[in-house]
Amino acid sequence: MRTHYCGELRNKHIGASVTLYGWVDRRRDHGGVIFLDVRDRSGIIQIVSDPQRTPDSYELANSLRNEYVVEIQGKVTQRPEESLNTRLPTGEVEIYAEEIKLLNGVRKQLPFQVSTAETDPVREELRLKYRYLDLRRDRMASNLQIRHQVMKAVRRFLEDNEGFIEVETPILTRSTPEGARDYILPSRVNPGEWFALPQSPQLFKQLLMVAGCDRYYQVARCFRDEDLRADRQPEFTQLDMEMSFMSLEDIIAINEKLVAHIFKTVKGIDVPPAFPRLTYAEAMNRYGTDKPDTRYGLELVDVSDILKNSGFKVFREAIANGGIVKILPIPQGNDAISNVRIKPGGDIFKEASEAGAKGLAFIRVREDGEIDTIGAIKDNLTPEQKQEILTRTGAKPGHLLLFGAGDTATVNKTLDRLRQFMAQEFQLIEPDKIHLLWVTDFPMFEWNADEKRLEALHHPFTAPHPDDISDVKTARAQAYDLVLNGFEIGGGSLRIYQREIQEQVFDAIGLSPEEANNKFGFLLEAFEYGTPPHGGIAYGLDRLVMLLAGEESIRDVIAFPKTQQARCLLTDAPASVDNKQLKELQVTSTCK
Ligand code: AMO
Repeated sequence: MRTHYCGELRNKHIGASVTLYGWVDRRRDHGGVIFLDVRDRSGIIQIVSDPQRTPDSYELANSLRNEYVVEIQGKVTQRPEESLNTRLPTGEVEIYAEEIKLLNGVRKQLPFQVSTAETDPVREELRLKYRYLDLRRDRMASNLQIRHQVMKAVRRFLEDNEGFIEVETPILTRSTPEGARDYILPSRVNPGEWFALPQSPQLFKQLLMVAGCDRYYQVARCFRDEDLRADRQPEFTQLDMEMSFMSLEDIIAINEKLVAHIFKTVKGIDVPPAFPRLTYAEAMNRYGTDKPDTRYGLELVDVSDILKNSGFKVFREAIANGGIVKILPIPQGNDAISNVRIKPGGDIFKEASEAGAKGLAFIRVREDGEIDTIGAIKDNLTPEQKQEILTRTGAKPGHLLLFGAGDTATVNKTLDRLRQFMAQEFQLIEPDKIHLLWVTDFPMFEWNADEKRLEALHHPFTAPHPDDISDVKTARAQAYDLVLNGFEIGGGSLRIYQREIQEQVFDAIGLSPEEANNKFGFLLEAFEYGTPPHGGIAYGLDRLVMLLAGEESIRDVIAFPKTQQARCLLTDAPASVDNKQLKELQVTSTCK
Protein backbone atom coordinates (compact mmCIF):
# COMPACT_ATOMS: atom_id res chain seq x y z
CA MET A 1 0.00 0.00 0.00
CA ARG A 2 1.15 3.53 -0.77
CA THR A 3 2.19 5.40 2.37
CA HIS A 4 2.78 8.83 0.80
CA TYR A 5 2.63 10.76 -2.43
CA CYS A 6 6.11 11.60 -3.75
CA GLY A 7 5.73 15.37 -3.56
CA GLU A 8 4.66 15.33 0.09
CA LEU A 9 7.90 14.21 1.67
CA ARG A 10 9.74 16.72 3.84
CA ASN A 11 12.29 16.86 6.68
CA LYS A 12 9.70 15.73 9.18
CA HIS A 13 9.50 12.36 7.41
CA ILE A 14 13.22 11.59 7.88
CA GLY A 15 13.62 8.07 9.21
CA ALA A 16 10.20 6.89 8.00
CA SER A 17 9.83 3.80 5.84
CA VAL A 18 7.74 4.68 2.84
CA THR A 19 6.11 3.00 -0.14
CA LEU A 20 5.70 5.20 -3.19
CA TYR A 21 4.27 4.71 -6.68
CA GLY A 22 5.06 6.75 -9.73
CA TRP A 23 6.82 7.26 -13.03
CA VAL A 24 10.57 7.60 -13.58
CA ASP A 25 10.97 11.26 -14.46
CA ARG A 26 14.64 10.70 -15.22
CA ARG A 27 17.55 8.48 -14.26
CA ARG A 28 21.10 9.64 -13.66
CA ASP A 29 24.13 7.46 -13.14
CA HIS A 30 26.73 9.21 -10.97
CA GLY A 31 29.70 6.89 -10.97
CA GLY A 32 27.88 3.76 -9.90
CA VAL A 33 25.22 5.49 -7.81
CA ILE A 34 21.86 5.65 -9.54
CA PHE A 35 19.60 8.62 -8.92
CA LEU A 36 15.98 8.32 -9.96
CA ASP A 37 13.57 11.21 -9.97
CA VAL A 38 10.20 9.59 -9.38
CA ARG A 39 7.08 11.58 -10.15
CA ASP A 40 3.42 11.24 -9.29
CA ARG A 41 0.66 13.82 -9.49
CA SER A 42 1.91 15.56 -6.36
CA GLY A 43 5.49 16.17 -7.46
CA ILE A 44 8.95 14.63 -7.59
CA ILE A 45 11.20 12.85 -5.10
CA GLN A 46 14.81 11.72 -5.50
CA ILE A 47 15.48 8.01 -5.07
CA VAL A 48 19.03 6.73 -4.51
CA SER A 49 20.31 3.25 -5.20
CA ASP A 50 23.89 2.01 -4.97
CA PRO A 51 25.53 -1.41 -4.96
CA GLN A 52 26.67 -1.08 -1.33
CA ARG A 53 23.77 0.40 0.60
CA THR A 54 20.87 -0.89 -1.48
CA PRO A 55 22.15 -3.95 -3.35
CA ASP A 56 18.65 -5.43 -3.75
CA SER A 57 17.35 -2.53 -5.79
CA TYR A 58 20.49 -1.57 -7.67
CA GLU A 59 20.28 -3.84 -10.67
CA LEU A 60 16.71 -2.94 -11.42
CA ALA A 61 17.38 0.78 -10.81
CA ASN A 62 20.10 0.57 -13.41
CA SER A 63 17.74 -0.80 -16.02
CA LEU A 64 14.95 1.74 -15.55
CA ARG A 65 14.19 4.27 -18.26
CA ASN A 66 12.06 7.43 -18.39
CA GLU A 67 8.32 6.89 -17.80
CA TYR A 68 8.65 3.36 -16.46
CA VAL A 69 6.06 2.77 -13.75
CA VAL A 70 7.58 1.74 -10.43
CA GLU A 71 6.90 0.93 -6.82
CA ILE A 72 9.60 2.10 -4.40
CA GLN A 73 10.13 1.01 -0.83
CA GLY A 74 12.74 2.74 1.22
CA LYS A 75 13.73 5.12 3.99
CA VAL A 76 13.48 8.88 3.96
CA THR A 77 16.95 10.35 4.53
CA GLN A 78 18.41 13.83 4.89
CA ARG A 79 20.22 14.86 1.70
CA PRO A 80 23.92 15.72 2.15
CA GLU A 81 24.61 19.48 2.30
CA GLU A 82 26.06 19.63 -1.22
CA SER A 83 23.06 18.03 -2.87
CA LEU A 84 20.23 20.06 -1.28
CA ASN A 85 17.86 21.23 -4.00
CA THR A 86 16.05 24.42 -3.03
CA ARG A 87 14.03 24.47 -6.26
CA LEU A 88 12.25 21.25 -5.31
CA PRO A 89 9.75 21.17 -2.41
CA THR A 90 11.14 17.74 -1.53
CA GLY A 91 14.70 18.94 -2.13
CA GLU A 92 15.98 18.41 1.43
CA VAL A 93 15.32 14.67 1.47
CA GLU A 94 15.89 11.55 -0.61
CA ILE A 95 14.88 7.90 -0.40
CA TYR A 96 17.31 5.05 -0.19
CA ALA A 97 15.51 2.40 -2.23
CA GLU A 98 15.48 -0.89 -0.40
CA GLU A 99 13.22 -2.39 -3.02
CA ILE A 100 12.11 -1.31 -6.45
CA LYS A 101 9.39 -3.10 -8.38
CA LEU A 102 8.90 -2.50 -12.05
CA LEU A 103 5.12 -2.35 -12.60
CA ASN A 104 5.23 -1.50 -16.27
CA GLY A 105 7.73 -0.39 -18.86
CA VAL A 106 7.62 1.81 -21.96
CA ARG A 107 7.65 -0.20 -25.15
CA LYS A 108 7.74 2.54 -27.75
CA GLN A 109 9.81 5.63 -28.22
CA LEU A 110 8.15 8.49 -26.35
CA PRO A 111 6.72 11.07 -28.80
CA PHE A 112 8.20 13.78 -26.58
CA GLN A 113 10.04 13.98 -23.29
CA VAL A 114 7.69 14.13 -20.35
CA SER A 115 10.34 14.90 -17.75
CA THR A 116 10.01 18.14 -15.82
CA ALA A 117 13.69 18.69 -16.58
CA GLU A 118 12.84 19.13 -20.29
CA THR A 119 12.18 22.71 -21.24
CA ASP A 120 11.98 22.39 -25.03
CA PRO A 121 8.55 23.42 -26.29
CA VAL A 122 6.49 20.58 -27.76
CA ARG A 123 4.18 21.14 -30.74
CA GLU A 124 0.56 21.45 -29.63
CA GLU A 125 -0.68 18.81 -32.10
CA LEU A 126 1.68 16.29 -30.55
CA ARG A 127 0.63 17.28 -27.05
CA LEU A 128 -3.04 16.85 -27.94
CA LYS A 129 -2.53 13.52 -29.72
CA TYR A 130 -0.70 12.11 -26.70
CA ARG A 131 -2.63 14.16 -24.17
CA TYR A 132 -2.25 11.51 -21.45
CA LEU A 133 1.52 12.08 -21.58
CA ASP A 134 1.11 15.85 -21.76
CA LEU A 135 -1.09 15.76 -18.67
CA ARG A 136 1.66 13.98 -16.74
CA ARG A 137 3.81 17.08 -17.20
CA ASP A 138 4.14 19.63 -14.45
CA ARG A 139 2.34 22.53 -16.10
CA MET A 140 -0.72 20.60 -17.19
CA ALA A 141 -0.97 18.59 -13.98
CA SER A 142 -0.89 21.82 -12.01
CA ASN A 143 -3.52 23.42 -14.27
CA LEU A 144 -5.87 20.49 -13.65
CA GLN A 145 -5.27 20.92 -9.94
CA ILE A 146 -6.14 24.63 -10.14
CA ARG A 147 -9.30 23.76 -12.06
CA HIS A 148 -10.26 21.29 -9.37
CA GLN A 149 -9.52 23.85 -6.63
CA VAL A 150 -11.77 26.39 -8.34
CA MET A 151 -14.65 23.92 -8.62
CA LYS A 152 -14.20 22.86 -5.04
CA ALA A 153 -14.18 26.47 -3.79
CA VAL A 154 -17.30 27.19 -5.84
CA ARG A 155 -19.16 24.17 -4.51
CA ARG A 156 -18.22 24.87 -0.92
CA PHE A 157 -19.28 28.52 -1.16
CA LEU A 158 -22.52 28.02 -3.05
CA GLU A 159 -23.69 24.92 -1.21
CA ASP A 160 -22.41 25.46 2.31
CA ASN A 161 -22.61 29.25 2.64
CA GLU A 162 -25.44 30.22 0.33
CA GLY A 163 -27.83 27.30 0.10
CA PHE A 164 -27.57 26.58 -3.63
CA ILE A 165 -28.35 23.08 -4.84
CA GLU A 166 -26.84 21.47 -7.92
CA VAL A 167 -29.34 20.18 -10.44
CA GLU A 168 -28.43 18.49 -13.71
CA THR A 169 -30.27 19.55 -16.84
CA PRO A 170 -30.60 17.59 -20.08
CA ILE A 171 -27.95 17.30 -22.75
CA LEU A 172 -30.40 15.93 -25.30
CA THR A 173 -32.69 18.91 -25.66
CA ARG A 174 -34.09 21.60 -27.93
CA SER A 175 -32.10 24.47 -29.30
CA THR A 176 -31.39 27.24 -26.75
CA PRO A 177 -30.61 30.44 -28.58
CA GLU A 178 -27.30 31.84 -27.28
CA GLY A 179 -26.20 33.16 -30.64
CA ALA A 180 -24.14 30.24 -31.98
CA ARG A 181 -24.95 27.34 -34.28
CA ASP A 182 -26.29 24.19 -32.64
CA TYR A 183 -24.77 20.75 -32.58
CA ILE A 184 -27.67 18.51 -33.52
CA LEU A 185 -28.31 14.81 -33.12
CA PRO A 186 -30.80 12.68 -35.02
CA SER A 187 -33.30 10.69 -32.99
CA ARG A 188 -33.50 7.05 -34.10
CA VAL A 189 -36.84 6.43 -32.45
CA ASN A 190 -38.36 9.63 -33.80
CA PRO A 191 -37.20 9.58 -37.43
CA GLY A 192 -36.76 12.98 -39.01
CA GLU A 193 -36.55 14.73 -35.65
CA TRP A 194 -33.48 16.12 -34.00
CA PHE A 195 -32.15 16.96 -30.58
CA ALA A 196 -29.86 19.93 -30.10
CA LEU A 197 -27.05 19.88 -27.57
CA PRO A 198 -27.53 22.78 -25.13
CA GLN A 199 -25.69 26.03 -25.84
CA SER A 200 -26.42 26.65 -22.14
CA PRO A 201 -28.95 25.39 -19.59
CA GLN A 202 -30.75 28.76 -19.81
CA LEU A 203 -34.36 27.63 -20.20
CA PHE A 204 -34.14 24.68 -17.86
CA LYS A 205 -32.68 26.81 -15.09
CA GLN A 206 -35.51 29.28 -15.51
CA LEU A 207 -37.99 26.42 -15.35
CA LEU A 208 -36.29 25.26 -12.15
CA MET A 209 -37.15 28.67 -10.71
CA VAL A 210 -40.78 28.15 -11.76
CA ALA A 211 -40.47 24.81 -9.98
CA GLY A 212 -39.54 26.55 -6.72
CA CYS A 213 -35.90 25.45 -6.68
CA ASP A 214 -35.00 28.99 -5.51
CA ARG A 215 -31.22 28.73 -5.77
CA TYR A 216 -29.76 26.51 -8.48
CA TYR A 217 -26.25 25.96 -9.72
CA GLN A 218 -24.60 23.50 -12.05
CA VAL A 219 -21.17 22.85 -13.46
CA ALA A 220 -22.67 22.57 -16.91
CA ARG A 221 -21.24 21.43 -20.20
CA CYS A 222 -22.28 23.67 -23.10
CA PHE A 223 -21.95 23.13 -26.83
CA ARG A 224 -21.61 25.83 -29.45
CA ASP A 225 -20.69 25.37 -33.06
CA GLU A 226 -18.86 28.66 -33.62
CA ASP A 227 -15.54 29.94 -34.90
CA LEU A 228 -12.87 28.97 -32.42
CA ARG A 229 -10.29 31.17 -30.76
CA ALA A 230 -7.89 30.84 -27.85
CA ASP A 231 -10.72 31.53 -25.42
CA ARG A 232 -13.45 29.56 -27.17
CA GLN A 233 -14.11 25.83 -27.43
CA PRO A 234 -17.03 24.04 -29.10
CA GLU A 235 -17.57 22.18 -25.85
CA PHE A 236 -16.91 24.20 -22.72
CA THR A 237 -17.97 24.39 -19.09
CA GLN A 238 -20.11 26.99 -17.41
CA LEU A 239 -20.60 27.59 -13.76
CA ASP A 240 -24.30 28.25 -14.18
CA MET A 241 -26.47 29.88 -11.50
CA GLU A 242 -30.06 31.04 -11.15
CA MET A 243 -31.90 32.49 -8.17
CA SER A 244 -35.41 33.66 -7.32
CA PHE A 245 -36.69 36.71 -5.46
CA MET A 246 -33.42 38.60 -5.72
CA SER A 247 -32.78 42.07 -7.13
CA LEU A 248 -30.02 42.82 -9.60
CA GLU A 249 -28.00 44.32 -6.75
CA ASP A 250 -28.49 41.17 -4.63
CA ILE A 251 -27.27 38.99 -7.48
CA ILE A 252 -24.23 41.17 -8.10
CA ALA A 253 -23.39 41.18 -4.39
CA ILE A 254 -23.54 37.39 -3.99
CA ASN A 255 -21.38 37.00 -7.09
CA GLU A 256 -18.79 39.45 -5.80
CA LYS A 257 -18.57 37.32 -2.66
CA LEU A 258 -18.28 34.15 -4.75
CA VAL A 259 -15.47 35.55 -6.92
CA ALA A 260 -13.65 36.90 -3.85
CA HIS A 261 -13.92 33.45 -2.26
CA ILE A 262 -12.46 31.78 -5.36
CA PHE A 263 -9.51 34.19 -5.52
CA LYS A 264 -8.82 33.90 -1.81
CA THR A 265 -9.07 30.11 -1.67
CA VAL A 266 -7.22 29.30 -4.87
CA LYS A 267 -4.64 32.10 -5.06
CA GLY A 268 -4.62 33.62 -1.58
CA ILE A 269 -5.46 36.98 -3.16
CA ASP A 270 -7.86 39.57 -1.73
CA VAL A 271 -9.97 41.27 -4.39
CA PRO A 272 -11.91 44.46 -3.60
CA PRO A 273 -15.23 43.81 -1.82
CA ALA A 274 -17.19 45.52 -4.62
CA PHE A 275 -16.00 45.60 -8.22
CA PRO A 276 -16.04 48.79 -10.30
CA ARG A 277 -18.85 49.14 -12.84
CA LEU A 278 -19.14 50.70 -16.26
CA THR A 279 -22.24 51.02 -18.37
CA TYR A 280 -22.06 49.47 -21.80
CA ALA A 281 -22.23 52.95 -23.37
CA GLU A 282 -19.35 54.20 -21.27
CA ALA A 283 -17.23 51.09 -21.95
CA MET A 284 -17.76 51.42 -25.70
CA ASN A 285 -17.03 55.12 -25.62
CA ARG A 286 -13.89 54.98 -23.49
CA TYR A 287 -12.43 51.66 -24.63
CA GLY A 288 -14.21 50.69 -27.84
CA THR A 289 -15.22 47.34 -26.37
CA ASP A 290 -17.65 45.90 -23.83
CA LYS A 291 -14.84 43.90 -22.23
CA PRO A 292 -12.06 46.42 -21.64
CA ASP A 293 -8.78 45.54 -19.99
CA THR A 294 -8.69 48.29 -17.36
CA ARG A 295 -5.27 47.38 -15.98
CA TYR A 296 -3.92 50.25 -18.07
CA GLY A 297 -5.20 53.62 -19.35
CA LEU A 298 -4.90 54.55 -23.02
CA GLU A 299 -8.53 55.66 -23.13
CA LEU A 300 -10.14 56.65 -26.40
CA VAL A 301 -11.42 60.18 -27.01
CA ASP A 302 -14.38 61.00 -29.25
CA VAL A 303 -13.68 64.10 -31.35
CA SER A 304 -16.60 63.81 -33.77
CA ASP A 305 -18.14 67.11 -32.62
CA ILE A 306 -14.85 68.96 -33.22
CA LEU A 307 -14.35 67.55 -36.70
CA LYS A 308 -17.87 67.34 -38.08
CA ASN A 309 -17.23 70.28 -40.41
CA SER A 310 -13.60 69.42 -41.07
CA GLY A 311 -12.19 70.27 -44.48
CA PHE A 312 -10.59 66.80 -44.44
CA LYS A 313 -13.06 64.68 -46.37
CA VAL A 314 -12.41 61.40 -44.55
CA PHE A 315 -13.39 62.89 -41.18
CA ARG A 316 -16.29 64.98 -42.47
CA GLU A 317 -17.87 62.13 -44.41
CA ALA A 318 -17.46 59.58 -41.64
CA ILE A 319 -19.53 61.80 -39.38
CA ALA A 320 -22.01 62.85 -42.10
CA ASN A 321 -22.70 59.13 -42.72
CA GLY A 322 -23.63 58.58 -39.09
CA GLY A 323 -20.19 57.40 -37.98
CA ILE A 324 -17.58 58.82 -35.63
CA VAL A 325 -14.02 60.06 -35.36
CA LYS A 326 -12.11 58.92 -32.31
CA ILE A 327 -8.53 59.21 -31.13
CA LEU A 328 -6.23 56.80 -29.31
CA PRO A 329 -3.68 59.08 -27.61
CA ILE A 330 -0.31 57.42 -27.00
CA PRO A 331 2.08 59.16 -24.62
CA GLN A 332 5.71 58.78 -25.79
CA GLY A 333 4.35 57.42 -29.06
CA ASN A 334 6.00 60.12 -31.14
CA ASP A 335 9.55 58.93 -30.55
CA ALA A 336 8.82 55.25 -30.23
CA ILE A 337 6.70 54.73 -33.33
CA SER A 338 7.95 55.54 -36.80
CA ASN A 339 5.79 56.57 -39.77
CA VAL A 340 6.80 53.36 -41.56
CA ARG A 341 4.85 51.35 -38.97
CA ILE A 342 1.68 53.45 -39.23
CA LYS A 343 1.57 53.66 -43.03
CA PRO A 344 0.41 50.90 -45.41
CA GLY A 345 2.83 47.98 -45.16
CA GLY A 346 3.63 48.71 -41.50
CA ASP A 347 2.73 46.38 -38.62
CA ILE A 348 0.47 48.90 -36.85
CA PHE A 349 -1.36 49.71 -40.08
CA LYS A 350 -1.86 45.96 -40.54
CA GLU A 351 -3.48 45.67 -37.09
CA ALA A 352 -5.85 48.49 -37.97
CA SER A 353 -6.74 47.12 -41.36
CA GLU A 354 -7.36 43.62 -39.96
CA ALA A 355 -9.94 45.24 -37.69
CA GLY A 356 -11.61 46.73 -40.78
CA ALA A 357 -10.07 50.22 -40.91
CA LYS A 358 -9.42 51.62 -44.37
CA GLY A 359 -6.75 54.08 -43.25
CA LEU A 360 -4.90 55.19 -40.16
CA ALA A 361 -4.58 58.95 -39.77
CA PHE A 362 -2.22 60.30 -37.13
CA ILE A 363 -0.95 63.46 -35.52
CA ARG A 364 2.44 63.76 -33.86
CA VAL A 365 2.89 66.37 -31.15
CA ARG A 366 6.38 67.86 -31.37
CA GLU A 367 8.51 69.24 -28.56
CA ASP A 368 7.50 72.80 -29.39
CA GLY A 369 3.81 71.83 -29.21
CA GLU A 370 3.48 72.01 -32.99
CA ILE A 371 1.80 69.15 -34.75
CA ASP A 372 3.11 66.99 -37.51
CA THR A 373 0.81 65.06 -39.82
CA ILE A 374 -0.10 64.68 -43.48
CA GLY A 375 -0.87 67.90 -45.34
CA ALA A 376 -4.52 67.03 -45.92
CA ILE A 377 -5.14 66.98 -42.17
CA LYS A 378 -2.82 69.83 -41.15
CA ASP A 379 -4.06 72.23 -43.83
CA ASN A 380 -7.67 71.57 -42.92
CA LEU A 381 -7.39 71.99 -39.18
CA THR A 382 -8.27 75.42 -37.78
CA PRO A 383 -6.16 76.62 -34.82
CA GLU A 384 -9.25 76.22 -32.60
CA GLN A 385 -9.84 72.64 -33.76
CA LYS A 386 -6.18 71.83 -33.23
CA GLN A 387 -6.22 73.31 -29.74
CA GLU A 388 -9.46 71.56 -28.80
CA ILE A 389 -8.07 68.19 -29.95
CA LEU A 390 -4.90 68.66 -27.91
CA THR A 391 -6.86 69.75 -24.84
CA ARG A 392 -9.43 67.00 -24.99
CA THR A 393 -6.92 64.21 -25.53
CA GLY A 394 -4.56 65.65 -22.93
CA ALA A 395 -1.84 65.47 -25.58
CA LYS A 396 1.57 66.79 -24.59
CA PRO A 397 4.77 67.04 -26.62
CA GLY A 398 5.81 63.48 -27.42
CA HIS A 399 2.26 62.17 -27.88
CA LEU A 400 1.18 60.26 -30.94
CA LEU A 401 -2.55 60.47 -31.74
CA LEU A 402 -4.00 57.68 -33.85
CA PHE A 403 -7.38 58.30 -35.51
CA GLY A 404 -10.25 55.99 -36.23
CA ALA A 405 -12.82 57.44 -38.64
CA GLY A 406 -15.81 55.62 -40.11
CA ASP A 407 -18.80 53.66 -38.88
CA THR A 408 -18.95 53.40 -35.10
CA ALA A 409 -18.48 49.63 -34.89
CA THR A 410 -15.36 49.59 -37.10
CA VAL A 411 -13.79 52.59 -35.36
CA ASN A 412 -14.30 50.98 -31.96
CA LYS A 413 -13.02 47.62 -33.13
CA THR A 414 -9.92 49.20 -34.67
CA LEU A 415 -9.02 51.39 -31.71
CA ASP A 416 -9.72 48.60 -29.21
CA ARG A 417 -7.26 46.43 -31.10
CA LEU A 418 -4.66 49.21 -31.36
CA ARG A 419 -5.10 50.01 -27.67
CA GLN A 420 -4.28 46.40 -26.78
CA PHE A 421 -1.38 46.38 -29.23
CA MET A 422 0.08 49.55 -27.68
CA ALA A 423 -0.31 48.17 -24.16
CA GLN A 424 1.94 45.28 -25.24
CA GLU A 425 4.32 47.52 -27.16
CA PHE A 426 4.84 49.86 -24.20
CA GLN A 427 4.66 47.04 -21.62
CA LEU A 428 1.85 48.73 -19.74
CA ILE A 429 0.38 45.50 -18.35
CA GLU A 430 1.49 44.30 -14.96
CA PRO A 431 0.82 40.57 -15.23
CA ASP A 432 -0.04 40.15 -11.55
CA LYS A 433 -2.69 42.86 -11.54
CA ILE A 434 -6.29 41.74 -11.29
CA HIS A 435 -9.00 44.05 -12.57
CA LEU A 436 -12.54 42.84 -12.17
CA LEU A 437 -15.23 44.98 -13.73
CA TRP A 438 -18.99 44.76 -14.14
CA VAL A 439 -20.37 46.04 -17.43
CA THR A 440 -24.05 46.92 -17.09
CA ASP A 441 -26.95 48.55 -18.95
CA PHE A 442 -26.45 46.74 -22.23
CA PRO A 443 -28.97 47.51 -24.94
CA MET A 444 -31.56 44.73 -25.30
CA PHE A 445 -30.84 44.35 -29.02
CA GLU A 446 -28.33 45.04 -31.73
CA TRP A 447 -28.93 45.26 -35.45
CA ASN A 448 -27.94 42.21 -37.47
CA ALA A 449 -27.13 43.76 -40.83
CA ASP A 450 -26.90 40.37 -42.63
CA GLU A 451 -30.30 39.16 -41.52
CA LYS A 452 -31.78 42.69 -41.42
CA ARG A 453 -33.34 42.22 -38.02
CA LEU A 454 -32.81 43.01 -34.38
CA GLU A 455 -30.95 40.38 -32.43
CA ALA A 456 -30.84 39.94 -28.65
CA LEU A 457 -27.46 41.14 -27.38
CA HIS A 458 -27.46 38.54 -24.59
CA HIS A 459 -30.44 36.26 -25.17
CA PRO A 460 -34.14 36.91 -25.61
CA PHE A 461 -35.00 35.99 -22.01
CA THR A 462 -33.26 39.06 -20.56
CA ALA A 463 -35.58 41.51 -18.81
CA PRO A 464 -35.78 45.07 -20.14
CA HIS A 465 -35.05 47.93 -17.75
CA PRO A 466 -38.30 48.94 -16.01
CA ASP A 467 -37.76 52.61 -16.94
CA ASP A 468 -37.59 51.72 -20.64
CA ILE A 469 -40.49 49.30 -20.82
CA SER A 470 -42.59 51.55 -23.08
CA ASP A 471 -40.47 50.43 -26.05
CA VAL A 472 -38.56 47.19 -25.63
CA LYS A 473 -36.79 47.73 -28.97
CA THR A 474 -34.75 50.63 -27.63
CA ALA A 475 -34.71 49.52 -24.00
CA ARG A 476 -31.65 48.88 -21.88
CA ALA A 477 -31.39 45.35 -20.56
CA GLN A 478 -31.06 44.41 -16.90
CA ALA A 479 -27.96 42.50 -17.83
CA TYR A 480 -24.41 42.41 -16.51
CA ASP A 481 -21.15 40.93 -17.71
CA LEU A 482 -18.16 40.27 -15.49
CA VAL A 483 -14.86 41.19 -17.11
CA LEU A 484 -11.46 40.10 -15.79
CA ASN A 485 -8.38 41.72 -17.33
CA GLY A 486 -10.11 42.14 -20.69
CA PHE A 487 -11.82 38.74 -20.79
CA GLU A 488 -15.56 38.26 -20.43
CA ILE A 489 -15.61 35.62 -17.72
CA GLY A 490 -19.33 35.71 -17.02
CA GLY A 491 -22.63 37.17 -18.00
CA GLY A 492 -26.20 37.17 -16.80
CA SER A 493 -29.36 39.13 -16.24
CA LEU A 494 -32.68 39.45 -14.55
CA ARG A 495 -35.16 37.47 -16.63
CA ILE A 496 -38.52 38.15 -18.12
CA TYR A 497 -41.13 36.25 -16.10
CA GLN A 498 -44.32 37.61 -17.64
CA ARG A 499 -45.78 36.18 -20.81
CA GLU A 500 -46.72 39.54 -22.38
CA ILE A 501 -43.21 40.97 -22.09
CA GLN A 502 -41.65 37.76 -23.38
CA GLU A 503 -43.98 37.94 -26.38
CA GLN A 504 -42.98 41.56 -27.06
CA VAL A 505 -39.32 40.54 -27.06
CA PHE A 506 -39.93 37.61 -29.41
CA ASP A 507 -41.79 40.00 -31.68
CA ALA A 508 -38.88 42.49 -31.57
CA ILE A 509 -36.42 39.83 -32.80
CA GLY A 510 -38.76 38.95 -35.64
CA LEU A 511 -40.33 35.74 -34.30
CA SER A 512 -43.97 35.45 -35.36
CA PRO A 513 -46.40 34.36 -32.62
CA GLU A 514 -46.57 30.94 -34.31
CA GLU A 515 -42.78 30.54 -34.39
CA ALA A 516 -42.50 31.75 -30.81
CA ASN A 517 -45.13 29.30 -29.74
CA ASN A 518 -43.60 26.47 -31.67
CA LYS A 519 -40.13 27.03 -30.23
CA PHE A 520 -40.84 28.40 -26.78
CA GLY A 521 -44.50 27.58 -26.08
CA PHE A 522 -43.44 25.51 -23.05
CA LEU A 523 -41.74 28.54 -21.50
CA LEU A 524 -44.59 30.94 -22.26
CA GLU A 525 -47.01 28.48 -20.75
CA ALA A 526 -44.86 28.01 -17.64
CA PHE A 527 -44.97 31.77 -17.09
CA GLU A 528 -48.73 31.43 -16.58
CA TYR A 529 -48.45 29.05 -13.64
CA GLY A 530 -46.92 31.33 -11.04
CA THR A 531 -43.37 32.20 -12.04
CA PRO A 532 -41.26 34.03 -9.45
CA PRO A 533 -39.09 36.98 -10.41
CA HIS A 534 -35.66 35.51 -11.03
CA GLY A 535 -32.23 36.10 -12.49
CA GLY A 536 -28.84 34.52 -12.80
CA ILE A 537 -25.44 34.36 -14.36
CA ALA A 538 -23.08 31.91 -16.01
CA TYR A 539 -19.30 31.98 -15.76
CA GLY A 540 -17.02 30.58 -18.42
CA LEU A 541 -15.22 28.26 -16.03
CA ASP A 542 -12.47 27.48 -18.54
CA ARG A 543 -11.71 31.18 -19.02
CA LEU A 544 -11.66 31.83 -15.30
CA VAL A 545 -9.29 28.92 -14.70
CA MET A 546 -7.13 30.00 -17.65
CA LEU A 547 -6.64 33.42 -16.07
CA LEU A 548 -6.04 32.00 -12.60
CA ALA A 549 -3.45 29.60 -14.04
CA GLY A 550 -1.75 32.37 -16.04
CA GLU A 551 -2.37 30.56 -19.33
CA GLU A 552 -3.18 32.16 -22.66
CA SER A 553 -5.48 29.50 -24.06
CA ILE A 554 -8.39 27.63 -22.52
CA ARG A 555 -7.05 24.51 -24.23
CA ASP A 556 -4.37 24.47 -21.54
CA VAL A 557 -6.89 24.15 -18.71
CA ILE A 558 -9.16 21.53 -20.31
CA ALA A 559 -8.09 17.91 -19.96
CA PHE A 560 -9.12 16.86 -23.46
CA PRO A 561 -9.77 19.94 -25.59
CA LYS A 562 -10.54 20.28 -29.29
CA THR A 563 -8.21 21.92 -31.81
CA GLN A 564 -8.98 25.19 -33.63
CA GLN A 565 -10.58 22.96 -36.27
CA ALA A 566 -12.92 21.51 -33.62
CA ARG A 567 -11.25 18.07 -33.70
CA CYS A 568 -10.09 15.76 -30.95
CA LEU A 569 -6.62 14.64 -32.06
CA LEU A 570 -6.48 11.91 -29.41
CA THR A 571 -9.53 9.96 -30.53
CA ASP A 572 -9.63 11.44 -34.02
CA ALA A 573 -13.21 12.63 -33.61
CA PRO A 574 -15.35 13.59 -35.39
CA ALA A 575 -15.23 10.48 -37.57
CA SER A 576 -17.40 8.82 -40.16
CA VAL A 577 -20.00 6.26 -39.06
CA ASP A 578 -21.23 3.04 -40.65
CA ASN A 579 -23.84 3.31 -43.33
CA LYS A 580 -25.90 0.95 -41.20
CA GLN A 581 -26.01 3.52 -38.42
CA LEU A 582 -27.02 6.27 -40.81
CA LYS A 583 -29.72 4.07 -42.23
CA GLU A 584 -31.15 3.36 -38.80
CA LEU A 585 -31.23 7.07 -38.14
CA GLN A 586 -32.78 7.68 -41.56
CA VAL A 587 -30.04 10.16 -42.33
CA THR A 588 -28.11 10.41 -45.58
CA SER A 589 -24.86 12.25 -46.05
CA THR A 590 -24.58 14.65 -48.96
CA CYS A 591 -20.77 14.61 -48.63
CA LYS A 592 -18.90 12.95 -51.44
P1 AMO B 1 -23.05 33.54 -22.28
O1 AMO B 1 -23.38 33.13 -23.65
O2 AMO B 1 -22.52 34.94 -22.08
O3 AMO B 1 -24.31 33.45 -21.32
O4 AMO B 1 -22.01 32.51 -21.67
C1 AMO B 1 -21.53 32.66 -20.33
C2 AMO B 1 -20.02 32.62 -20.30
O5 AMO B 1 -19.53 31.42 -20.90
C3 AMO B 1 -18.26 31.67 -21.51
N1 AMO B 1 -18.31 31.20 -22.92
C4 AMO B 1 -17.40 30.38 -23.48
N2 AMO B 1 -16.29 29.82 -22.99
C5 AMO B 1 -15.58 29.01 -23.79
N3 AMO B 1 -15.93 28.71 -25.06
C6 AMO B 1 -17.05 29.24 -25.61
N4 AMO B 1 -17.40 28.91 -26.86
C7 AMO B 1 -17.84 30.13 -24.81
N5 AMO B 1 -18.99 30.82 -25.00
C8 AMO B 1 -19.25 31.46 -23.86
C9 AMO B 1 -17.98 33.15 -21.40
C10 AMO B 1 -19.35 33.73 -21.10
O6 AMO B 1 -19.27 34.91 -20.34
N6 AMO B 1 -27.25 31.48 -20.48
C11 AMO B 1 -26.38 32.64 -20.42
C12 AMO B 1 -25.99 33.00 -19.00
C13 AMO B 1 -27.10 33.65 -18.23
O7 AMO B 1 -27.78 34.56 -18.76
O8 AMO B 1 -27.25 33.28 -17.05
C14 AMO B 1 -25.13 32.36 -21.22
O9 AMO B 1 -24.87 31.26 -21.64
O10 AMO B 1 -17.11 33.37 -20.31
